[in-house]
Amino acid sequence: MQLTPVLSAHWDEPDSFTLDGYRRQGGYGALPKALGRPPDEIVQLVKDSGLRGRGGAGFPTGMKWGFIPQGDGKPHYLVVNADESEPGTCKDTPLLMANPHVLVEGIVIASYAIRASHAFIYIRGEIVHVLRRVQAAVAEAYAAGFLGKDILGSGFDLELTVHAGAGAYICGEETALLDSLEGRRGQPRLRPPFPAIAGLYACPTVVNNVESIASVPAIVEHGAEWFRAMGTEKSAGFTLYSLSGHVVRPGQYEAPLGVTLRELLDLAGGVREGHELKFWTPGGSSTPLLTAAHLDVPLDYEGVGAAGSMLGTKALQIFDETTCVVRAVLRWTEFYKHESCGKCTPCREGTYWLVQVLDRLERGEGTEADLDTLLDLSDNILGRAFCALGDGATSPITSSIQYFREEYLAHLEGRGCPFDPVAATVFAGAHAS
Ligand SMILES: Cc1cc2nc3c(=O)[nH]c(=O)nc-3n(C[C@H](O)[C@H](O)[C@H](O)COP(=O)(O)O)c2cc1C
Ligand code: SF4
Repeated sequence: MQLTPVLSAHWDEPDSFTLDGYRRQGGYGALPKALGRPPDEIVQLVKDSGLRGRGGAGFPTGMKWGFIPQGDGKPHYLVVNADESEPGTCKDTPLLMANPHVLVEGIVIASYAIRASHAFIYIRGEIVHVLRRVQAAVAEAYAAGFLGKDILGSGFDLELTVHAGAGAYICGEETALLDSLEGRRGQPRLRPPFPAIAGLYACPTVVNNVESIASVPAIVEHGAEWFRAMGTEKSAGFTLYSLSGHVVRPGQYEAPLGVTLRELLDLAGGVREGHELKFWTPGGSSTPLLTAAHLDVPLDYEGVGAAGSMLGTKALQIFDETTCVVRAVLRWTEFYKHESCGKCTPCREGTYWLVQVLDRLERGEGTEADLDTLLDLSDNILGRAFCALGDGATSPITSSIQYFREEYLAHLEGRGCPFDPVAATVFAGAHAS
């Protein structure tokens, strides 16, 4: 298996984040090519490339752009989602630190394609270093004439605003993000209307992930066929896989879609020495857990879906046999409870009760019936919550009970976590007697 570094190709260079560093590698070369073609051709090119949104859901990017009504007389907006707050997800942050200009170039091309004259980057509020880096890149791009009036003499104008969120996972959900950008409390909106019809300031808006937009300059430069030659038929191109946790060399691995975890672990030095893989997430904490039995699942939208999970953000969190799955799931569930925006009852109440039940199970104070309660609660959240945060909160619970029921029961039997040294002694004693 070969890595396909495109977005990450020059991250090791000391000035990769500067305008000079980016231009030395051919950066901003795609922009005049795009501006020299009619906007609709760029939309068609992105459709033909098969690029799917890298924010989690995998929605075709070109199709999303095509939904923007043309000739409607309203302002159009492009909003880049750089909120990246899901546990395990850590690809947009390094991309923005190492190469913010590829995003800026992608933004100009995408805005031109959808005929937007104002674009926004909504950045997770806590990552101030990223905010500063992106602000500096945007200032450089304005000074060089890549943003502002009459870009490269094309007659196309674009203003780009960098906005810092205040640190809420829900503001990554695209409609909550739009409310937050408008200055309101970030909570999801009822759909329809979808953002393509009534988004920011009730005008047609495209919301795309950082990596989706950053992939566009390379597609303009090299063509749709080049992009499609990587990946699989339905999941085209290269993408960033983020390996974290109990792995020898954690980090970003840019590879064709459809690579397997076994191949990625080979490149990353494997699970830390003397240990073995126990469970992993394919795409962050809201995607159902997988196990060592899934090492050869193709990591594309179809392959991971067929294995009962979701590709999500390709955040591969690796856990070895020293990790208590119940404790890991409790931690994630506490996060969802904390981040639930409170708008709908199934998620607001459900995540609270999930934590209560998991917590007593983890302490060895639950009963076997609590497992059914967890599944029942999850069943009442999944598909009934107002947005995907609620659905995501149930994924670690249902999948961990599916694969590790025995480990939950061991907590009851041993009156505590078998991985906890004190409880483990009790557990061993309980077995001996
Ligand atoms: C709770 C929640 C958090 C989300 N966080 C992000 C995020 O940080 N970044 C992101 O790109 N998409 C996030 N999404 C998905 C967005 O709603 C949206 O699908 C995405 O920005 C679309 O971009 P894409 O088509 O380029 O993938 C989140 C969704 C939910 C439900
Ligand atoms: S599912 Fe949770 S985060 Fe989403 S609207 Fe309901 S309460 Fe808010």
